[in-house]
Amino acid sequence: MYYTKKITDSVTWVGGVDRRLALFENLFPIENGVSYNSYLIMDDKTALLDTADSAISLQFFENVEHTLDGRSLDYLIVNHMEPDHCACIGELIRRYPEMKIVGNAQTFKFIKQFFDVELGEKAVTVKEGDKLSLGTHELSFYMAPMVHWPEVMATYDATEKILFSADAFGTFGAMNGTIFNDEEDFEGEWLDDARRYYSNIVGKYGPQVQAVLKKLKGLDIAMIAPLHGPVWRSNIDWFIDKYDKWSRYEAEEQGIVIAYASMYGDTANAADILAGELVEQGAKNVKVYDVSKTHVSKLISEVFKYSNLVIACPTYNNGIYPAMHEFINDMKALGIQGRKVGIIENGTWAPAAGKAIRAELESMKNIEIVEPVVTIRSALQSDSRTQLEALAKGML
Ligand code: FEO
Repeated sequence: MYYTKKITDSVTWVGGVDRRLALFENLFPIENGVSYNSYLIMDDKTALLDTADSAISLQFFENVEHTLDGRSLDYLIVNHMEPDHCACIGELIRRYPEMKIVGNAQTFKFIKQFFDVELGEKAVTVKEGDKLSLGTHELSFYMAPMVHWPEVMATYDATEKILFSADAFGTFGAMNGTIFNDEEDFEGEWLDDARRYYSNIVGKYGPQVQAVLKKLKGLDIAMIAPLHGPVWRSNIDWFIDKYDKWSRYEAEEQGIVIAYASMYGDTANAADILAGELVEQGAKNVKVYDVSKTHVSKLISEVFKYSNLVIACPTYNNGIYPAMHEFINDMKALGIQGRKVGIIENGTWAPAAGKAIRAELESMKNIEIVEPVVTIRSALQSDSRTQLEALAKGML
């Protein structure tokens, strides 16, 4: 049965939610599910903005058909060609053979790669600033390359002042019968997932996000309609400010994330003692994580949120413990920068993790390594505890 939501009198959400999927991109745990948003504008001409993931295709097609109410579909506007949004394009072409497809040159390149179709005159190629009138609704197109794919664009409806923003301003999480941000406790229940979504999926492309934020500054925006999560109709500046901070790699709050790896508990013991010392000295937001038990996407999200990080790690194969190495590699890949970082290494006969971690951190931008690097030989002893206390002071 169809399940749709009105965004305005003439714009309807025709997407769907998925609470069964365990891993988004077969990579990121999504215990709160995810939504795939698609929007249908009913005017003299009808226009669908993006399709949906194949997992919800039956729901999606039922929603589109119901909303069209017997009318034809004139346009499909493709803001993003990742399969969680483009999977239904082939079937949509079969169902609505008169439909024209609006995208940029890169969009059509990708459509041909994903689908064995010859679009011919169905393809309407747009570039920065081009406009499309649906009757009352006047749409214009803004390119957003590498946020986070090269073909990404945003569509602005000047009539209703809605920005269809592709993945930007999206979040993990399935709506609870709601569609607008202010129908949910976003800051309390969604923000962590929004940060985890941004930091892991778009995080590498901070400069490109900054470029788009600048471009959109001149637009009068009443609503932001992303491809995942609720539609923003209030408190929009608050969420744009989050994006601004995240894309500048600026911490939201002062705080110290202690990420440790520990094979037998000795490095964990040092991490706990450090956390206790920091709290006693007045530190706020001290967060301790075992990297072997915490999904790396959560660790990344916490590093985006807080200003300081301590890495505590045993030596393994004369280098960095594997789970910690994955975390550090991910930080590098996502361009994390501008953080104050402490290092604790452990090694029974030849501690080597600290040197390797330092080299990794020095290859990243604007990372301040806090001295001393604490060296533990097997288990914390009075000399290494003294080093740990010195590190605690440096981290404040
Ligand atoms: Fe939600 Fe980049 O796809």
